[in-house]
Amino acid sequence: MSRSAHPAGPRHADVLPEGHYSAPPADLNSLDPKVWSRTVTRDDLGVVTVGGIDVKTLAEQHGTPAYVLDEADFRDRARAWRTAFGTDADVFYAGKAFLSRAVVRWLHEEGLNLDVCSGGELATALSAGMPADRIAFHGNNKSSEEIERAVRAGVGRIVLDSFQEIVRVAHIAQSLGRRQRVQIRVTVGVEAHTHEFIATAHEDQKFGIPLAGGQAAEAVRRALRLDGLELIGIHSHIGSQIFDMSGFEVAAHRVVGLLKDIRDEHGVELPEIDLGGGLGIAYTSDDDPREPHEIAKALTEIVTRECESARLRTPRISVEPGRAIVGPTAFTLYEVGTVKPLDGLRTYVSVDGGMSDNIRTALYDAEYSVALVSRVSDAAPMLARVVGKHCESGDIVVKDAFLPSDLAPGDLIAVPATGAYCRSMASNYNHVLRPPVVAVREGEARVIVRRETEEDLLRLDVG
Ligand code: LLP
Repeated sequence: MSRSAHPAGPRHADVLPEGHYSAPPADLNSLDPKVWSRTVTRDDLGVVTVGGIDVKTLAEQHGTPAYVLDEADFRDRARAWRTAFGTDADVFYAGKAFLSRAVVRWLHEEGLNLDVCSGGELATALSAGMPADRIAFHGNNKSSEEIERAVRAGVGRIVLDSFQEIVRVAHIAQSLGRRQRVQIRVTVGVEAHTHEFIATAHEDQKFGIPLAGGQAAEAVRRALRLDGLELIGIHSHIGSQIFDMSGFEVAAHRVVGLLKDIRDEHGVELPEIDLGGGLGIAYTSDDDPREPHEIAKALTEIVTRECESARLRTPRISVEPGRAIVGPTAFTLYEVGTVKPLDGLRTYVSVDGGMSDNIRTALYDAEYSVALVSRVSDAAPMLARVVGKHCESGDIVVKDAFLPSDLAPGDLIAVPATGAYCRSMASNYNHVLRPPVVAVREGEARVIVRRETEEDLLRLDVG
């Protein structure tokens, strides 16, 4: 968003303070389809509905705060990724964005695979019936116990992240009489976030094995020698919330360069290349994400072109979108509590959740949108900051947003695009209870992750 002070002041200030906001939208009641899930609309009374259910009913039946997940939208987006990449590629949904057993079943039904990065995610996937051979297991510090569980379950691939892990996975697989399919995660010297990417020396991080200095080539050498491993490909993940495809271009160029070196040295053409996740979504109206079919076309063209010029057979491509599938499909529904106008500054709108259900604003300075959803209002816009109920002044959900100036306690507001990395990064800070995830579809609401209770908290506290 642009930094601009808007001349049309809110009711509490003549001059707006410096902030990270654009002009107020012409109509505060309109809901930008870019940031709201696809079945969201307002009914005749002006109440927002999703999946055919209005938010007042949802709040009455399930309480607030609540994550409200639009199942039809989730399935549509999952299917769009699957269709865009076709049968010659694999889409692994990144479970770290949000995972529950219902989500695993939807993914299974829609033909997607699953990327997990901990024993807990693996357990969730297996308990919901995801076939193990459609699971990829990631992580920079998998325990021996996690590796053993993954190998025993028969996961489709383990993504090796260090020299030590190459030996450890080979040893565990061999001792179980298995040959484990693996990829090696490399760092390609590219880091991409939002609209920017940098192609310099971003090997300085905990993930992967650097291509630089021949380290990745050495890892391949070692993996190819070990009987417990079947090396099927190279993996690269370059960042998050990416809009600019040029980072992938450089990454693919460098990974294909490694594939060529492997062919030349070992006479082996590895059959797979995984380009990771990281594709961006719209959190505000200023963001313009690409559609899955455009991304699939761009990535396929890049890899094909690079392989042609290296005279390699084009490997099977896989991708791991998390945010781009689940992010836009949910909003967080809050009830407004205290409304505190600060003269000359802004109005602090407190909600019944906060940094425990959305840490992204505090942690990454993330931007979000917000709207009054329990009614329409024609009151003038006021510059607001939506804050939580935690004992911390950094407990901000939406830093700068315009809301109607007649906003009052008891109103419902919603923050869209909270499907990814909000419930999955939620905490119990201040012993605030984590909200439920309520899936809505065709007029029905179903709790897929229930609200935490004080009994849940006390059960863990064994005195
Ligand atoms: N594959 C790998 C190997 C990853 O490390 C990640 C994300 C993904 C796929 C999925 O990325 P996505 O498509 O969801 O961007 N907590 C941060 C995001 C951390 C992402 C970590 N890795 C956030 O809230 O923005």
